[in-house]
Amino acid sequence: MSGACLPERYAKDCHAVECPIGIRKWNEMNTTIQKIHAREILDSRGNPTVEVDILLNDGTRARAAVPTGASTGIHEAVELRDRDPKRFGGKGVLTAVANVNTIIAPALIGLDASEQELIDRMMIRFDGTSNKARLGANAILGVSMAVARATASSRHMPLYEYLSDDHQYLLPVPMMNVLNGGVHAQWQGADFQEYMIAPFGAPDFRTALQWGAETYHALQEILKKKNYPTAIGDEGGFAPKVVSNEEPLELITRAIEHAGYRPGTDIGISLDPASSGFCHDGRYELKREGKTLLPAELTAYYRRLVDTYPIISIEDGLAEDDWAGWKLLTKELGTRIELIGDDIFVTSPELVKRGISEKAANSVLIKLNQIGTVTETIATIDLAKSAGWGVNVSHRSGETIDSFISDFTVATSAGKLKTGATCRGERVEKYNQLMRIEEELGSRAVYAGRKAFVR
Ligand code: PGA
Ligand code: ZN
Repeated sequence: MSGACLPERYAKDCHAVECPIGIRKWNEMNTTIQKIHAREILDSRGNPTVEVDILLNDGTRARAAVPTGASTGIHEAVELRDRDPKRFGGKGVLTAVANVNTIIAPALIGLDASEQELIDRMMIRFDGTSNKARLGANAILGVSMAVARATASSRHMPLYEYLSDDHQYLLPVPMMNVLNGGVHAQWQGADFQEYMIAPFGAPDFRTALQWGAETYHALQEILKKKNYPTAIGDEGGFAPKVVSNEEPLELITRAIEHAGYRPGTDIGISLDPASSGFCHDGRYELKREGKTLLPAELTAYYRRLVDTYPIISIEDGLAEDDWAGWKLLTKELGTRIELIGDDIFVTSPELVKRGISEKAANSVLIKLNQIGTVTETIATIDLAKSAGWGVNVSHRSGETIDSFISDFTVATSAGKLKTGATCRGERVEKYNQLMRIEEELGSRAVYAGRKAFVR
């Protein structure tokens, strides 16, 4: 066997051994993988998820944890769950953990962790399915992220620097989900899942976060005065039983003003209706308002909202398989605001390619666990950028304290990161990591601001 999959440059320096699938392994580099170990941990909703530890030859240890969604797209890569009703209501991830420990780890031990793309492609090959159904995207992604973090750490580099190919660092506009509805509020409040504030007018990330946190607290006061409960949903936003899907927009606009900022100039609003969740047989059911709308009617509804409120983007305005509806929405509103595809594209390069050629959106949501490897996620971002599309990196509603996405967003110059309200440790940690990165970069840090939004 030739080991032709590995770059020639290593061939002379290393003592190679053959591995069963014909790829050479390297035993004497600092970044050679010595050990990989996965375990089951809990996410922010108390459901199991996968955490992966890795040890390199030079003693470097690194760890990564995989997030999990609740309003998942049907075309996402498979998150492997045990379906054993006796454990965690079937949500255990011991099978995915065993896949890391008994299939992925033995095959990767001895390989160079700095060969991110090679390692990701090998895992895709071991899996052998088109949607990572055999090993699980949760198993594969945990390893993929841990490998990146370990290499960065072995090279004494911050993760954002290691992941960047051009060393241009863009601090994202924080897309802060201050009011939760839909499935994230157990369908007790608004039909729309997320109402986000985007402080794009701030001079830097730290100030943007401050403006967002102040607006969040102003909203809390407004809700209290209205006798709405200020209990929070899965992503840290308030989850009141509002009277309509429009009411949160009024409340948030007022909150921006109460906090001392100008709606639409300093802070914009972004919506994620997550409409696949209320689409049945091609019709959109707004329970809060007792209405059932066709795609064209829902588009008109959005148009009125965009005319009335400082809305800068709408994510998943239409459902994951409603391509005709998406094209209409893009035709109607695509020159005014960013139209972000989450469930429709599921971070897949093939689906984004189709979206670009059919003009079905002008922006993409990026979730590492929708596709399952760091390499494929970067490819989707590159593709979207090459078409002039907007890029929005995102957390999942089930999170851990892992802040990989903060470094990843800066490294890829995505320009926007949505990771919940300034509330709940697992959300705030991502924002805090961005403040650390901004501080470390000093004058090299550029805040994305309004330019990050496609219009
Ligand atoms: P999820 O939702 O993480 O619960 O799937 C987030 C989103 O729809 O953007
Ligand atoms: Zn979404």
